[in-house]
Amino acid sequence: MSSRQSVDAAMALREEDMERILWTDVEISARVSELAEEMSEVLRDSEAAVVFVGIATGSFMFLADVARRITIPIAVDLVRVESYGLGTESGGAPRLTTDLKIDVRGKHVVLVEDIVDTGNTLFWLIAHMKSKGASSVSVCTFLDKPSRRKVIPEPFGEGRFYRGFECPDNFVVGYGMDFAELYRNLPYIGVLKKEKYQL
Ligand code: IMP
Repeated sequence: MSSRQSVDAAMALREEDMERILWTDVEISARVSELAEEMSEVLRDSEAAVVFVGIATGSFMFLADVARRITIPIAVDLVRVESYGLGTESGGAPRLTTDLKIDVRGKHVVLVEDIVDTGNTLFWLIAHMKSKGASSVSVCTFLDKPSRRKVIPEPFGEGRFYRGFECPDNFVVGYGMDFAELYRNLPYIGVLKKEKYQL
């Protein structure tokens, strides 16, 4: 099987559980390239080191895709934050369960996220990066659901806000995003049928 054929086969995975597909792997890939190009340009002349910090687990695919298209040297680290449990509604205050390994003091941090919903997770993490002495904090989220925002996760210092696509107010899965730890491996992003999570 060619690599295109294997992605095509995965594109059919769990399609019957979706109300609709929002973005295919081809559309995702094109947008990731644009984001990586934009970020590389902005960060190219930065004097401080750049650290991409993925928020586990949801950002793993986006982080891997975007990082390999960045054309300047970067470091990569991960943090883990729990907020949703097994449901589809944010549980409020985020809880940091795995912290950074890299010292980000004096560095530019780019927080890489799958989706911003209420904004709680990023709001909290931006403050956390500031408290660790980062010189700036940018946000790079693949999806943004602005309609559900409760707090605004403002970038810090010279940091910027990058986003792939604006997402409708639906529960979406795929490209790293899950429902009850399933669907993360789908190469597309789809709206999960309500009957799949409203039992
Ligand atoms: P926030 O703190 O409310 O902004 O939530 C951010 C986190 O909630 C994201 O990193 C996702 O893990 C999760 N999340 C929010 N909306 C969705 C969705 O539609 N599908 C899957 N996960 C979601």
